Amino acid sequence: MIHDKIERNVGLMMVLIVVAISFGGLAEIVPLMFLKQTTEPVAGLKPLTALQVEGRDIYIREGCNVCHSQMIRPFRAETERYGHYSVAGEFVYEHPFLWGSKRTGPDLARVGGRYSDAWHRAHMYNPRDVVPESNMPAFPWLFDHEVDSSQTAAKLSALRTVGVPYTDDDIAGAAAAVQGKMEIDALIAYLQQLGTVLKETR
Ligand code: HEC
Repeated sequence: MIHDKIERNVGLMMVLIVVAISFGGLAEIVPLMFLKQTTEPVAGLKPLTALQVEGRDIYIREGCNVCHSQMIRPFRAETERYGHYSVAGEFVYEHPFLWGSKRTGPDLARVGGRYSDAWHRAHMYNPRDVVPESNMPAFPWLFDHEVDSSQTAAKLSALRTVGVPYTDDDIAGAAAAVQGKMEIDALIAYLQQLGTVLKETR
């Protein structure tokens, strides 16, 4: 009997178990890759500007994503605090995602527009100046360094390769768009657009 053979042959048994589990996984994962809701940008979503891309890279370099998630879950406690829950279509131009799950600080998925640029400057220079009980580290060096524009065009071009719709003009003008800007300005430009596309429909 076939059944008998499978049960006596551990190698064959393992292969067939893997096949059985893979089918289960594929049935869940593959449809997501073709579902419009998860692959199409939400209305009005635009690729980040060159300055915002540099700001995002500074955000990653400084480890902001280690303490801050960018993913509002569809629970009342979260939507009342942070705004509309995050939807897949907001992230189709994100490479890599910065969703995260560790929240030493608040979620930042919709922090764009919540504070003024001046507030962010003060907060980044020394969080205790605006939030006395804060345990967020200070990032004063961002005020001393200019953005490195030598890789900006290559970054946009790499993002285009993975599907972000940058034009030739965007890439050609990328270095000039960030030249002479301070790192703090790039970071704030990035923070101020976070989650704003869906915010209006809240
Ligand atoms: C060690 C953990 C930690 C790191 C790293 C960190 N933060 Fe924070 N962040 C916090 C905490 C805690 C708060 C809440 C207190 C406060 O507002 O300062 C906070 C608050 C904030 C807020 C205000 C959010 C709100 O809705 O009020 C912003 C914006 C922010 N952080 C941005 C950043 C950025 C940008 C970086 C990286 C340059 C960063 N944080 C790095 C812990 C961290």
